[in-house]
Amino acid sequence: MSLVVEGLSKRYSKGVQALNSVSFCVNEGECIGIVGESGSGKSTLGRILLGLETYKEGRITYHGKPIAPRKRSDLRQFRKRVQMVFQDSTSTLNPKLPIWKSILEPLDNFKEITPSFIKVEGLSRKEIAQELLEIVGLEKDMVDRYPGELSGGQKQRVSIARAISIEPSLLVCDEPTASLDVTVQVQILRLLKQLQQHTNMTILFISHDIRAVSFLCEKVMVLKDGFMVDQFELSQLYDDKRHHYTKALIQAARID
Ligand SMILES: Nc1ncnc2c1ncn2[C@@H]1O[C@H](COP(=O)(O)OP(=O)(O)O)[C@@H](O)[C@H]1O
Ligand SMILES: [Mg+2]
Repeated sequence: MSLVVEGLSKRYSKGVQALNSVSFCVNEGECIGIVGESGSGKSTLGRILLGLETYKEGRITYHGKPIAPRKRSDLRQFRKRVQMVFQDSTSTLNPKLPIWKSILEPLDNFKEITPSFIKVEGLSRKEIAQELLEIVGLEKDMVDRYPGELSGGQKQRVSIARAISIEPSLLVCDEPTASLDVTVQVQILRLLKQLQQHTNMTILFISHDIRAVSFLCEKVMVLKDGFMVDQFELSQLYDDKRHHYTKALIQAARID
């Protein structure tokens, strides 16, 4: 097991119980979808996994070690392995920088990493950014553009390029397609799927959209009001024993 979450609870200071004893595990290279309506605790879970939010109750280990350590020096090692893609790429991409500089930020932070997609030595930094753009299906000559000159889908591809640049072993995506047009959503999901198939990356894919989750993930976890009400392999999506809430989500999405 690469990621193991046991009995995770989170209570915000104002008394909101965002997570209630949530447990699940993910194997290396697997994609797990966390689905639930707005306010169900999905982002809280994602932020805790990234070390952006604290928690008091529960245990999270990643390859046997506690996740998101408190010590700064350990946090650096953690960031090397765990990356994220958010719904809103404007928080990831600095509008004042050409995109190649934003793309290279993680690699600049971890100069010791030489990603396997760099096949030849002596590439300039911009050429490395171009390689990454190609991997996410964008034209190389886009490197000099600014975020404001890109469409929503293109910006999200750039955010993905940036996140995968250091070849993380875990990628947390929080509603990465939620602000995109439906056709562009499908393209981004295809890209994530393709990346997952060609790497050994574990993906935690957070979405309110059970269609997106069922397209991408082999494991699904359903959150409702901070409780994990259902958890299953995708092949069991239509089983009669699915929780009634899962059935309602399926019906609302009209995928049955
Ligand atoms: N920083 C915060 N302080 C207090 N309550 C919060 C905070 N962030 C989220 N919450 C609350 O926790 C619950 C879960 O929120 P969230 O994890 O963002 O859900 P989701 O991502 O599924 O929409 C909601 O009731 C939300 O209002
Ligand atoms: Mg959210």
